[in-house]
Amino acid sequence: MRQKETIILGIESSCDDTSAAILKNDTILSNIIAGQDVHHEFGGVVPELASRAHLQNIVPVVDAAIKKSGIQKEEIDAIAFTKGPGLLGSLVVGTSFAKTFALALDIPLIDVNHMYGHVLAHFINDENKSMPRMPFLCLTVSGGHTQIVLIKDYLDMQVLGTTIDDAAGEAFDKAAKMLGFPYPGGPLIDKFARRGDENKFKFSKPKVPGYDFSFSGLKTSILYFLQKQEKENSDFIKENLEDLCASIQKTIVDILIKQLEEVVNDLGIKEVAIAGGVSANSELRNRIIEKKDSAGWNVYIPRFEYCTDNAAMIAITGKFMFEKNLFTNQSVTAMARMPFNAK
Ligand code: KG4
Ligand code: ZN
Repeated sequence: MRQKETIILGIESSCDDTSAAILKNDTILSNIIAGQDVHHEFGGVVPELASRAHLQNIVPVVDAAIKKSGIQKEEIDAIAFTKGPGLLGSLVVGTSFAKTFALALDIPLIDVNHMYGHVLAHFINDENKSMPRMPFLCLTVSGGHTQIVLIKDYLDMQVLGTTIDDAAGEAFDKAAKMLGFPYPGGPLIDKFARRGDENKFKFSKPKVPGYDFSFSGLKTSILYFLQKQEKENSDFIKENLEDLCASIQKTIVDILIKQLEEVVNDLGIKEVAIAGGVSANSELRNRIIEKKDSAGWNVYIPRFEYCTDNAAMIAITGKFMFEKNLFTNQSVTAMARMPFNAK
């Protein structure tokens, strides 16, 4: 007998992207993402503006995802949504919408941890791309998180290291702001770094025990360096922009790779994945790929669309939870600070 197909609607609204995706078994039929330009001039996400933009976007985005997928809404088996972690006002919009739509369609609700989503994006069936084998390590690097996760099974994960202050994406964005770029500046540092000399400027690297990360010292070191140089030459940033971007990017990636190498060596696990918005960074991608030849790692890098926040990763996580009957109910609420292993 042919197995019944499972169709999941995924909804993501934890930060400043409103996204909806339709997943059929492990294949994505649609993944619509609406970003929010409203934050650009503020140098960071403004929570109040983010919630309002989610409210405007959520219905058209879900509607577009269903239309593009070619399915009828009555065919959806369950709705998976991001419960947390993230900005509370943003999460509430996706959570409320998911609860209402599930009630209207009389189908189960699945509450997903956003950080699981980033990791499990690797299991989206994507043009026969190879998938990590358990156990594997995942460096999840985004605007809000920097974690090294040990994945023993789809829903059995353990955080081995995390940031004690800023996230890697935050380090990119804050450095970019100092250089005069709009938010989010991470991709712009990446772009300008391509023609720069990464060894031109040196910035301090943290000494953190264990597998944790720290980026606040780097931020201060960049700030003091720029202030000092600008006192002597007010055009310093303009004249050195590409070299500054390349040197800052190299420092952030060095910090990430060093801790990852340590975990790989200690645990002897050479299945290594990267995930989250910063995994779109070309220097990080290149340095991880180099590890195939230099250290025999099997490396897994998601397609760009599945690196930054998206609902496809929430839908695939929802599918693994659906298979284990891990449903929630109408009393569920959004959770801004959601512990990694919380259900
Ligand atoms: O995963 P994500 O979309 O949202 C969060 O959950 O935070 O990650 C967004 C972060 C931002 O800090 C952005 O600057 C960074 O990912 N980012 C990059 C690149 N693309 C996105 N950072 C460096 N280089 C990139 N190419
Ligand atoms: Zn994210």
